[in-house]
Amino acid sequence: MDWGIKNRLARIIKPQTGRTVMLAVDHGYFLGPTKKLESVSRTIEPLMDYADALMLTRGILRTSVEPETSMPVVLRVSGGSSIIGEDLSNEVITTSIEDAIRLNVSAIALSIFVGSEYESQTLESLAMLVNMGQEFGIPVLAVTAVGKELSKRDSRFLSLSCRIAAEFGASFVKTYYCEDFEKVVESCPVPIVIAGGPKLETELDAFEMAYDAVNKGAVGVDMGRNIWQNNNPVAMLKAVRAVVHKNASPAEALEIFNRNKK
Ligand code: R5P
Repeated sequence: MDWGIKNRLARIIKPQTGRTVMLAVDHGYFLGPTKKLESVSRTIEPLMDYADALMLTRGILRTSVEPETSMPVVLRVSGGSSIIGEDLSNEVITTSIEDAIRLNVSAIALSIFVGSEYESQTLESLAMLVNMGQEFGIPVLAVTAVGKELSKRDSRFLSLSCRIAAEFGASFVKTYYCEDFEKVVESCPVPIVIAGGPKLETELDAFEMAYDAVNKGAVGVDMGRNIWQNNNPVAMLKAVRAVVHKNASPAEALEIFNRNKK
């Protein structure tokens, strides 16, 4: 791997633990003003000390994050459909590599929609991004999206999507946690982070998911709604951080959450 790509990746996946807690706040690119993310700056401000990287779009980066920040940025550079449109999978590249470089990002991210009508289009975008990323030393994060079909989140589908992303040259992959998750990790030669998905019923559910994911080989999480849709987002993030970086058990994480909640 090229030095630049390795260096940028090491800003996100911390070499001290080999793990990462990414905070995802890119949801507006297809969901609009999602609940509790109406004002991104207000939502992320108290969380900035406890995340290893921020995932967001350039519009939100420029308007809602202070340029003085030392927070590594994973820039979402794909989009093109919305939650009220017909098909979420019709995504294209929305941001040039030049703008990503101008924004000094640590990685660029796009969604791939394997098995959808726009499979080839999104895979072609991945190939293009990897080529550009290689040229400028910027790692690519491929997100194995499922659109509205949340039931697709099984190990067969996710193994296929993650493997294709790795074969295309993604530096790391974001996918969902699922039953037999170890199979997904085993067949994917690049690091995997998990998305949290829609807010789970209890805090413990989220800690268990993070715990199981890292213990089955994920290098961490790229979590959004389960953090900032919680009434105690800082407590949530501190607890997830303990799971990811310190191998805290779900019960220990719950204790941390309870100690830190207001
Ligand atoms: C998909 O890539 C979304 O834009 C989010 O970045 C991702 O789903 C992670 O957020 P959450 O934990 O809310 O699912």
